[in-house]
Amino acid sequence: MTAIPAPNSVPPRRFNIEKWGWIYMRGSGVVLLVLIFGHLFVNLFAGEGVKAIDFAFVAGKWASPFWVVWDTLLLWLALIHGANGMRTIVNDYAKGPRLRKLFLGAIGVSSALLILLGTLVIYTFDPCPADAAPGELPSFCSQEK
Ligand code: HEM
Repeated sequence: MTAIPAPNSVPPRRFNIEKWGWIYMRGSGVVLLVLIFGHLFVNLFAGEGVKAIDFAFVAGKWASPFWVVWDTLLLWLALIHGANGMRTIVNDYAKGPRLRKLFLGAIGVSSALLILLGTLVIYTFDPCPADAAPGELPSFCSQEK
C-alpha cells in the first residue's frame, strides 16, 4: 500500500497582507462610490456646472473643513486603492522577478509622492495669495483686509 503524501501547507501568518488588501479594495470601493459621485454631483451638477470651476471655486470649497476632509479621504483612499489594484495586475502579468520588483517599486514611489504632494496642496493652500488678480479671488478675501 502506498502512503498518500501530506499536502504542502503554508504555515499560518499572523498578518496576511493579501487578505487585508482584498478587504481594503471592497471597503474603499464602497466609500469611493459615495466620495466620487458626491464630488461629481457637487462640482458639476448642483451649481452652475463646469463653467463655475476656477480658483475661487476651489478656495471657497476648501474654506470649509467638511470639503477638506472629503478631498483628503478621496485622495488617500483612491490612490491607495489604485496602487493596490496596480500591484495585483503587476503580480498577475509581470514576467520575471526583476521586472516585477521594478514595477512594484515605481508604483510605490509614485503613489507615495502623489499622496504627499496632494496632502500638502490641500493643507497649505492659500485662498488669498497677495499677488493674485482681484477678480480671480473668492469674495471673502476682500473682507479680510
Ligand atoms: C467608484 C468607486 C470604485 C469602486 C466601487 C471600485 C471597486 C473595486 C473593486 C471591488 C476592485 C477589486 C476587483 C477584484 O479584485 O477583482 C477594484 C479593483 C481595482 N480598482 Fe477600483 N473601485 C473604484 C474606484 C477606483 C479608482 C478611482 C481607481 C483608480 C485610482 C481604481 C483602480 C482600480 C484598479 C487598478 C483595480 C485592480 C483591477 C484588477 O485587479 O484587475 N478603482 N476596484
